Formats: sequence, C-alpha cells, structure tokens
Amino acid sequence: MLELEAVSKTYRLGAFGTREVTAVRDVDLTVERGEVVSLIGESGSGKTTIGRMVLGLAAPTKGQIRFDGVPVTGRRGRALKGYHRQVQGVFQDPFSTFNPVFKADRVFALVRDGFFPDVPTTRWRERVEAALHGVRLEPADVLDKYPHQLSGGQLQRMLIARALLLDIRLLVADEIISMLDASTRIDVLNLLGELKAAGLAVLFVTHDLALGTYISDRTVILRAGEVVEAGPTQEVFADPRHEYTRNLLAAVPHLHSRWDEPVK
Ligand SMILES: Nc1ncnc2c1ncn2[C@@H]1O[C@H](COP(=O)(O)OP(=O)(O)O)[C@@H](O)[C@H]1O
Ligand SMILES: [Mg+2]
Repeated sequence: MLELEAVSKTYRLGAFGTREVTAVRDVDLTVERGEVVSLIGESGSGKTTIGRMVLGLAAPTKGQIRFDGVPVTGRRGRALKGYHRQVQGVFQDPFSTFNPVFKADRVFALVRDGFFPDVPTTRWRERVEAALHGVRLEPADVLDKYPHQLSGGQLQRMLIARALLLDIRLLVADEIISMLDASTRIDVLNLLGELKAAGLAVLFVTHDLALGTYISDRTVILRAGEVVEAGPTQEVFADPRHEYTRNLLAAVPHLHSRWDEPVK
C-alpha cells in the first residue's frame, strides 16, 4: 500500500543554503493494509521527516514514495486533498495543533469545510459524535470546550477522531503516546489495536522501544537517518542483527507484552 524506495532528504541551511543536513538517507520501507509498522529511532534520527514526506508535506530529495503505486510527491491542491482523505497524520504535541483562541471542536469544522462542505449540519454532527465515540470520548465532555479545558489525552483522541472522519486507510502516528500519562497511554494503544483490527494501517513513529514492540507487526530501526534493522517485530527484538539495536534493547529494563495480549 505505502512504499518508500531509497528515500533521502537533505535540508539546506544558512542564508545561502550552503550548509546541508541529510536527515534521511536511502530509506526503504513498506506498510501494507491493516499493518502496524513501528519506526523507532532516537531524537533527531529523521522519523518526523519521514512522516512528513509520507503525508506529502515535504518532498524527498531523492527516491520515491508511492501509495497504491501512485507517486505521493508532487501532489498539490486537489490531488493532495484526495490523498489526505486516505492518509492522515497525528503528531506528538496535541496542544500545538489546537489554536487556544478557538474551541477545540473547531478542528472538526475545518475538516467539514475542507472535505465535506455539502454534508448537512445535523448529519455532520452525527458523524463527529460517532467518530468521538470511536475514540472513547463522550461528545458532551469535549465539544464546546477550549483546548486548555481538556487533557492532553482528550486532545490527542480528538485528533485521532478527526482523522477517522475521513475514513482513512493509513495513519501516521508521530510520538502520539509519548506525552500521555500511563493510563491514557494504554487507552490509546488499545484504540490503535481496535483500528488495526478494523483494517487501518499505522506507521507508528516512536523513540520508545517498549511502545514499538507493544503495538507493531514490523519494526524499522532508524539511526541518523538510515535504516539499521528491519523485520517482523518479534524477530527484531528476539534476535537483533545490529549492535546498535542490541544496545538499545539492553537499555530497556523490560518490554511490554504485545498489544494482542491482555493489558494489566
Ligand atoms: N525543517 C528543517 N530544516 C532543517 N533541518 C531539519 C528540519 N527538520 C528536521 N531537521 C533536521 O533533520 C534531522 C532529523 O529531524 P527529525 O526528522 O525531526 O527527527 P526525529 O523526528 O527523529 O527527532 C535533525 O538533525 C533535524 O535537526
Ligand atoms: Mg520527531
């Protein structure tokens, strides 16, 4: 479904673009329908850059990104919008996505304006409420509130609900769990498990190995923009090929059970 082939991204810095930073180098990666792939790497390893390229928000310097065989890069306007009906991202810091001046449910109004201008108001309201129930939020608890009146977990779930309004096939989840408290983490992880069971594919971006193992079918380990290891999650964790992965694993005191095992 999603395919990255030898993707690199170099940023040019400085007033004349004279300094270059290669954030992503020769990355191959695929995500199939209903599959959760975790992209694990330390801060600065290029994860967000990959996520933004997958979402069509940044262009690779080299290489190809395809969704259902069609190039993602270079889509603009209507073509990009069509792509965003199928592929959406949720990013690390939910507070930064919300404008504190507006009520939090404005994020839904923007989806309506952008994608469903012809849906009547009552019908739209029903769809928003269904999407909120889908992420275990009670509409009355969150609609008509300002961002500061809601918790990080509630805002994060609203953003997932917003993505779900579009009936997407792939979700790019960039560090969406990291800043949640422990109890909300489990809720959001379980929610992702349910969405996966319903056929949604997830590119699960995290610096946290334990979260990666917990949720994913396959794991890709990134170091300084390059893939050092990739494979089925259980194999990568049971028998890491690369010393870097072994060191990462050694630094984790104990890993979670997998998402399909009951959570205590
Ligand atoms: N817009 C940008 N302009 C210049 N450099 C950037 C930009 N975005 C990211 N970088 C650099 O690219 C590298 C990878 O960053 P990023 O993709 O955010 O990594 P991660 O999400 O794994 O922390 C870092 O060195 C970062 O400083
Ligand atoms: Mg990042």
